[in-house]
Amino acid sequence: MQKKYTMTVFGCQMNERDAETIRGFLDELGYEETEDVAEADLIIMNTCAVREKAEAKVLGRIGKLGQLKEKKPHLTIAICGCMVQQEKVANYIRKNFPFVDLIFGTHNIASFPDLLQQALDSEETVVALRAEEGKIVEGLPVRRTDKFKAWVNITYGCNNFCSYCIVPYVRGRERSRLPEEIIREIKTLAENGYLEVTLLGQNVNSYGKDLAKQVDFADLLARVDQETGIKRIRFTTSHPRDFTEKLARTIADGKNICEHIHLPVQAGSNRILKLMNRGYTREHYLQLVEMIRQHEPDCALTTDIIVGFPGETEEDFAATLDLVDQVSYDAAFTFLYSPRSGTPAAEMPDQISDEIKKERFQRLLALQNKHSLRHNKKLVGQKVEVLAEGPSKTDPTVFTGRTRTNKVVNFTGENIEPGKLITVEITEARTWSLLGRS
Ligand code: 5AD
Ligand code: SF4
Repeated sequence: MQKKYTMTVFGCQMNERDAETIRGFLDELGYEETEDVAEADLIIMNTCAVREKAEAKVLGRIGKLGQLKEKKPHLTIAICGCMVQQEKVANYIRKNFPFVDLIFGTHNIASFPDLLQQALDSEETVVALRAEEGKIVEGLPVRRTDKFKAWVNITYGCNNFCSYCIVPYVRGRERSRLPEEIIREIKTLAENGYLEVTLLGQNVNSYGKDLAKQVDFADLLARVDQETGIKRIRFTTSHPRDFTEKLARTIADGKNICEHIHLPVQAGSNRILKLMNRGYTREHYLQLVEMIRQHEPDCALTTDIIVGFPGETEEDFAATLDLVDQVSYDAAFTFLYSPRSGTPAAEMPDQISDEIKKERFQRLLALQNKHSLRHNKKLVGQKVEVLAEGPSKTDPTVFTGRTRTNKVVNFTGENIEPGKLITVEITEARTWSLLGRS
């Protein structure tokens, strides 16, 4: 009988993309994916370490799997991703949840089939945590989640060491894929009916710095636009420190480069930005926004903001609110600061209480919501291009998709098919989405 597996993925698009590689391997091994944990022979959790909450959730779930394993001794349990790349966490899991069969880190994905076999053959927990990132391995199998949209890695790892962030410790140093490999992958996607790619990197703007060949992110973006035939090009994440005017021009001049930039600011106070080791000031950031809007006036801007970084005073927070007001983002992802063991910020004095963090978070959210709605209202009455994805989860009579500026549109119309670019007239604006008809 064919073996079945189920996989839960936490965290960012990198993790989603890694999960697609693991699915590719499992296809080759003859496994079938199921949503139903009860019928799975193999349970995989691809974990995230960026915030404590996600880690706590995973530990809770692993605990519950122990009971399942008692009833089903042949069940194989594998935990991978950023959380277990922290040796301390891997040891904790091995000690407290000895029924886990396999623990493997972010640098061990390429040997997943071997590791799985070892785990099947062994009574003990198999632990594979490469400390060093090693060379990029090309040509791994992949089964993509979507038929029309694809994630394409361009860099792995991060060199920035923002003081709150665990990523450089669990994803290693920054490595860029060769432009030829990226172009080849995207050409193949376009030939197979894909319309959209999102170029992925922790800091896409530093693409190419480690390559022998002189190539930067703007060069890569222009090549993807001109050589691959893909209809929509997105990228994430941009670091404000490395964002150049050449890049803004390339985005504005590009034909298929989407008019959306995710530009995490993290905080609006220079004192906090310095403590965060972000490498730019509030003034630099605001100039950057102005420069981007000069080149591309309709460019949607989104951001990430951390609330309650150690030592954040009411005055510092007011500077964040003021910056959010000045920039007027289309959307913002806001996070409560979460201390990550091993990062400098976790050791900083004046950690902020949960109560203050939550109160500030609410004020920030209320302000951002006003801006999101304001941007969305500007679109009412306009015709926009939407990539139709499928029926809406909440109302199956309505279709859902995204604009080039990455806004969700729920719309009605005749002959709508997933994977089609459709012109939709916007009829109503909500804070998080738009309504329309084609
Ligand atoms: N606490 C809260 N938010 C964090 N992020 C990264 N590390 C932390 C942390 N320790 C946020 C940043 C980043 C996003 C992906 O997650 O805003 O841009
Ligand atoms: Fe973390 Fe900063 Fe690197 Fe982003 S740029 S992954 S926030 S260290």
